[in-house]
This record gives sequence, structure tokens and C-alpha cells, in this order.
Amino acid sequence: MRQPNRLSLSETACLLALVGVSIGITANSLRDDGRPLTVSFAFSLLGFAASYSLIRWLGPTFMRAGLKGKDMAKVNKPEIPETMGAVCAVVYLLLLIAFIPFPFYKDIVAATSGGGNRDVVIQVDHVETGRYLHRFPHNKLASYLSGILSLQAIVLLGIGDDLLDIRWRHKVLIPALGAFPMLVVYFVDFGVTHVVVPLPLQKYLGQLIDLGWLYYVYMAAVAIFCPNSINMLAGINGIEVAQSLVIALLLMINDFLYLSPFTSYPHPATDSHLFSIYFLIPFVGVSLALLYHNWYPSKVFVGDTYCYFAGMVFAVVGILGHFSKTLLLLFIPQMVNFLYSCPQLFHLIPCPRHRLPRYNPSTGLLENSVTEWKQPPSWPIHFILTTLARFRLVGIKTNDRGEIVESTNLTLLNLWLLWLGPMKEERLVLHIVFLQIVCGIIALFVRHRMALLVFPADNLSLGASQV
Ligand code: UD1
Ligand code: MG
Repeated sequence: MRQPNRLSLSETACLLALVGVSIGITANSLRDDGRPLTVSFAFSLLGFAASYSLIRWLGPTFMRAGLKGKDMAKVNKPEIPETMGAVCAVVYLLLLIAFIPFPFYKDIVAATSGGGNRDVVIQVDHVETGRYLHRFPHNKLASYLSGILSLQAIVLLGIGDDLLDIRWRHKVLIPALGAFPMLVVYFVDFGVTHVVVPLPLQKYLGQLIDLGWLYYVYMAAVAIFCPNSINMLAGINGIEVAQSLVIALLLMINDFLYLSPFTSYPHPATDSHLFSIYFLIPFVGVSLALLYHNWYPSKVFVGDTYCYFAGMVFAVVGILGHFSKTLLLLFIPQMVNFLYSCPQLFHLIPCPRHRLPRYNPSTGLLENSVTEWKQPPSWPIHFILTTLARFRLVGIKTNDRGEIVESTNLTLLNLWLLWLGPMKEERLVLHIVFLQIVCGIIALFVRHRMALLVFPADNLSLGASQV
């Protein structure tokens, strides 16, 4: 009998073919000056193959180590391996490190006269031939490495969380610790804390405004929000990885809009967006391998490690690439889920350990999960809940005295079920992924069609300011 943790013959053949293609592309690119974008794609294929095999092989080992979880929306609640995001994250980090020579190598050689001396400051290569636009100047290496450091930190902390099941009020701050290396390097290496003022306000505030230390608070807030918001829009098969893949692909579309032929070379933001692409292409590779195993019916769970890791990849590219506002525009469903959850997160409404939709074994459908009120809510909460219930923004159950005894958990998944009625798990995940795609496309459209109304520069126009 075939063991589920073994790769079948056809899977092995396909994965070996992928590895062969990846090695072929990389070797070929060495002949004509590297071509980092092509190599990044080849590394992504390698990442897919490595993650796919390792997820399969390591499943039983993870279970034995206690890294497992019950699939709540199935009849017998089977136990499957959890924290598989850690496998993807480790493969991803190794790939990012192995990728360093491709965008940076020539620059390092040109800036060194041999024997470790750094006395040649003029990059002769660039003076004679012009810098290859897909390569980075050496100073970008610090940013790149700080991104890797932050991702390593978050993966370590994420595995700790999956092992120890840390309480919510403590773990929300985990990403702030993860972001620390990136923010410190940002401080010493780049240190820009200016933001462009929207055109209508420029009369009063000038073209740029220096936010100083507040800018670091803002960046830390972005780094806390992205990982946690993905971890909160979770609990049904495939949703964590699928939403992350949609965000990654939309970010890549946004990045490519800053490269030739979509924008005129050399655009001041080209480097930042190439930087982002180099982080995102391998992320897509490892995530696709995870999605294959995590899609309904899940054979593995991703764990908090994946949610933190994915969110931190986005925070790293958004912060170090200086497009955090665009990044946040792609998080609209997560923002709605977060704002809607706030009354439970701040314990104005009781918050059970799990708020994922409830599986009804007699129908096989997912229904709203509820929180029970052991004591009736105070009158302001009662008033707010009954008003929201009138607009079908929450479901409530009252006793014969008119007191609320049950209210639906405040998550986007429950709200969707409240509006559309009970549905199958695989249908709900497709709905939410579709919602993420639609919101993201609208956000990108607004960003690129309307930005010039309020900001002086964009990929379509350089304008006077080059920030
Ligand atoms: C967050 C949510 C919690 C939700 C949980 C689901 C908040 C404040 N917390 O908590 O409400 O219940 O995510 O991931 O919003 N699981 C499934 N099917 C899946 C994925 C997960 O049944 O497709 C279950 C498994 O039992 C798994 C567990 O959820 O072991 C993972 O929960 P965990 O990631 O530890 O929850 P939190 O991130 O703390
Ligand atoms: Mg989680």
C-alpha cells in the first residue's frame, strides 16, 4: 500500500524535471551576466520542488513532535501535521541567501581591488557600460540582509508560538520583535522618515513632511498588522495560503508596473520594486507547494509560523521598498476582518479561543459560530448588538426576557455565512479568495489611475518629486 507521506513515481518524476529545469536556467544565466530575474524564477521552481517533497516527508515527524492539529470542519476531526509553514520558510530563506550573488556579485567585484581591499570606490564597470538595471548597487545588500534577518526572527518566534500556543494578547506583539532587525538597519542605512504630502495639503505643509520617530512607529505598526491580520483571517482549509498568494501576485503585478516596458527607465522606484520581486517570486514557489497540501481537504495545516512568515514577507517588501500605502491597500479584507473583530479582541464581547465557523455534521455545511453570554451584556453593548443585528451585521439569540444569550463571532467568515447562509468549506474559501482578488484589483486600479490626483509622482509620471 502506498504511504501517504511517500511521493508517487509520477510526482517524483515531475519534481525531478522541475529541479532539472531550474538548474538548467540558472546555469544558462551564468553565461550571459547572471539575469537575476530569470534566476529568481528558477529558484522559485526549486523552492516548489523542495517544499513539496519536504512537506510530504516530514509530516509524520512533525506529528510525533506534537506539531499537529484537529481539522474542526470534518466529521471525525482528524489530526494532521501543523506548522508546515516552517518547512516552506526554511526553504525560502536558504533560497534567498543562495540568490545573493546574482543581483549583487558584479557590484561587489567592481567595488573591490582584491585582497579584501575596498579602496576602489568608483564602480568602473558601471562607468564604462552603465549599471545593469536588474542588478543592485552594493548598499542595497544591507537592506536585503536585514529583510532576511527579520524573516528568520519571525520564523523562530512563529515556531515557538506553534509549540507553546501563546495567548493572543501576548502573541500580537511577536511580529514587532521580528521587525526589529529590519527597522534597526533601516535606521542606520537609509533613515528616510519623510513622506510626500498629498497635493491638496501641500499649500499648508510643503511637499515633504518629516515624521521622525513616528515613521518608525508606523513601520512597526505595518509589521505587526500584516502577519496578525493573516493569522486572523484563518481557520478553514487553504485560506491562509490562498490569501497570501493573491496578495503576493498582486504585489508582483504592481512591481512589474515600475519596470520596462510599463514605465520609463530609469524610474526612481525601479530598484525598490525589483527588490520586492526578488523576495516575492520564491515566496510564490514555496507557497504553491504548501497550498497543494493545505487546500481542501487539508493534509497539513500551515501553523501560525506561515501566517507570520507570509505577513512579514509583505511587510519587508512594503517597508524596504517604500510602498507600504499600496501594500495596505491590498489588505482590505484583512482590515475589515480586523476592525470587525475589535470588540472581541478588546473583550467588549466575550472571545472564545476559536472563532472559526462551526461544522454541522448533519448537513456537512459550515454555519456561524457563536459566543455565549453567560451574563446578559450591559445596556450599551445590548443596544449596539441589537442595532447591528437589525442591519444583519451580527446574528443574536435572545431569551424570553429579551436578553442576549448568544451572538455570532465577529469574523469576516462568519459575516459571510450570515449573509449567504451555510455553505460547504471549499465554497467558502473560494468566495473569500475571490473577494480578495476583486478588492485587490480595485485597489491597484485606484492606486494607479487615481494616485496622480493626490500625489505628484507615480509609475506613469515622474512629476517634480522623486520620492
Ligand atoms: C486564530 C483566530 C481564531 C481561529 C484560529 C483558526 C483570532 C483572534 N484568532 O487563532 O479565532 O479559530 O485562528 O486558525 O481571530 N483549523 C482548522 N481548519 C483549518 C485551519 C485551522 O480546523 O483549515 C484549526 C485546527 O484545529 C488548528 C487550529 O485551527 O490546529 C489552529 O489555530 P491557531 O492558529 O493556533 O489559532 P490562532 O492563530 O491562535
Ligand atoms: Mg493561527
